[in-house]
Amino acid sequence: AQTLKGAANANGRYMGTITDPAYINGSDRTYNTIALQEFDYITAENSMKWDAIEPSNNGFSFNNADTVVNWAQQNGFKVRGHTLVWHSQLPSWVANGSWSKSSLTAVIQNHVAKVMGRYKGKIAQWDVVNEIFDENGGARDSVFSRVFGGLDEFVTVAFNAARAADPDAILCINDYNLDYNGGKANGMISLVRRLKANGVPIDCIGSQAHLVVGSVSSSFGSTLSSLCSTAGKCALTELDIRARTPISSSAAQQQKTDYTTAVRACAVLNNCLGVTVWGITDSRSWIPGVFSGEGDALPWNSSYQKKPAYDGILAGWPAG
Ligand code: G3I
Repeated sequence: AQTLKGAANANGRYMGTITDPAYINGSDRTYNTIALQEFDYITAENSMKWDAIEPSNNGFSFNNADTVVNWAQQNGFKVRGHTLVWHSQLPSWVANGSWSKSSLTAVIQNHVAKVMGRYKGKIAQWDVVNEIFDENGGARDSVFSRVFGGLDEFVTVAFNAARAADPDAILCINDYNLDYNGGKANGMISLVRRLKANGVPIDCIGSQAHLVVGSVSSSFGSTLSSLCSTAGKCALTELDIRARTPISSSAAQQQKTDYTTAVRACAVLNNCLGVTVWGITDSRSWIPGVFSGEGDALPWNSSYQKKPAYDGILAGWPAG
């Protein structure tokens, strides 16, 4: 039978999803079975974030991340590392510390060196920095942008540390709302252009692509193309397409079309590496907890039945 990874692989790309130890060792075997059958790239949903992996200064907690990486290696998955420098899920010792540029530089360098170093050769792509822009394309307020006075310096520190820690990993800058030609996409493009011109080792832009059924922008594909050519590579890193819940049958058909549009936008670009969907089943998605009354955004419903969205993803991959 056809699978999502089979369709992506026929086009020279991958199909990814998320997991975490609860899905690998927990009682929900169906989640894990589908991950094994349908996907060939994996992101840890939460286990590699700063609060999980370095809860105190230079105090590391690698057990959960190790579980994900070992499971991936045993089962032939490649891994996207998510994420090294992010304002959210940031432990308070970082977020509320009183830092100088040089002391925060040392903290970033140590975090990147220890985390990436542990998994050197085992993690193919890293989200080195995540969600650093505001909606206009300026610097999002965070401890990092405050201490460094903007984005350029701390992004440079993080990417240089990342390249040094694992020279073979593909280094990405990742964000959401890069789905149309707007302020944030333009801010991303100008930052990446400027830093790459200065020799900062940015390889890839990750577009999360948290989309809304029926509202996929007509500029989704052209914007992804611009992001891809600016960085040299790109990927869809967290794709989901949410609806009002419970999803109606007409919305489920529109969702199928929207999944095809999003996947096809990657498929037609030679340097778009692949597509990750941010979950498998609607029963385990971040969306209802954040957007009240919305969800049903994933390819399998809460009973693990394939939705039309599944066929929409298959249809997005032209060959195979
Ligand atoms: O670990 C605590 C646990 O100790 C506590 O008992 C429980 C009670 O609420 O919360 C647990 O933490 C939760 C964490 O997931 C781990 O399960 C947080 O409340 C919850 O907010 C957190 O949500 C994650 C969210 O990122 C946080 O920003 C979602 O699972 C995860 O899917 C989501 O993923 C993000 C990407 O990393 C970045 N892009 C956006 C995307 C969606 O928000």
